[in-house]
Amino acid sequence: MVDLSNKPTIIGKKIILRPMKAADDFPYIEECLNDAEVVKLTGSSPEYDREEVFHWYNTRNEQTNRLDLAIVDKTTNVFVGEIVVNELDQLHQSMNLRILIGPRGRDRGFGTEATQLMVDYVLMNTVLNQLTLSVFAFNPRARRVYEKVGFTMESIDKNQLEYDGKQIDSINMKLTRENWLIKQNEKSAGR
Ligand SMILES: CC(C)(COP(=O)(O)OP(=O)(O)OC[C@H]1O[C@@H](n2cnc3c(N)ncnc32)[C@H](O)[C@@H]1OP(=O)(O)O)[C@@H](O)C(=O)NCCC(=O)NCCS
Repeated sequence: MVDLSNKPTIIGKKIILRPMKAADDFPYIEECLNDAEVVKLTGSSPEYDREEVFHWYNTRNEQTNRLDLAIVDKTTNVFVGEIVVNELDQLHQSMNLRILIGPRGRDRGFGTEATQLMVDYVLMNTVLNQLTLSVFAFNPRARRVYEKVGFTMESIDKNQLEYDGKQIDSINMKLTRENWLIKQNEKSAGR
């Protein structure tokens, strides 16, 4: 049984992960959704229904089978992105992780810290065996972040996105509890 009804606040060095506050966060959420790099690298649509999106963010804290947290810049206390663990696969005791950071927050170490904090929280507080994710082949920065946290490549789905007339592959990555524990032990041994 995986129960993610608790929405924690997790304080990191550079960022805070906290539950969504749709009313306060919405202008910053829209800044992320309208950002060309986010649209490209997440394969999302640049057009969206504002009411639907507000409703979506306003109902994230009620969800019991997934965890959606805001990434907040500690220095400004402003929403800069989100990190989500969703798509529970009961059979494999596995969930999917995804992250997006808007223009205010990128390339400052926030993504690495957010991913590590979320992975640690989920694996410490559930019985999940593994986390999985998918990343487009034209996103080496995201791959680097996931590899730093311990995700390894599992498989490639060819031609998952058409961008600028080119077919882009999607890379599936996974972090098992076993590999996460090995990394935890290495860290505590100072290696
Ligand atoms: C992907 C994302 C979460 C990364 O977060 P971030 O805060 O920007 O990344 P960080 O600063 O923590 O780390 C980036 C790492 O990638 C490296 N990097 C940056 N550009 C790179 C490139 N073109 N090729 C390889 N590595 C690159 C950096 O050097 C750094 O590694 P280092 O710490 O070893 O030096 C964020 O940029 C983002 O959300 N981008 C837009 C949406 C997106 O791509 N989401 C993921 C979809 S799978």
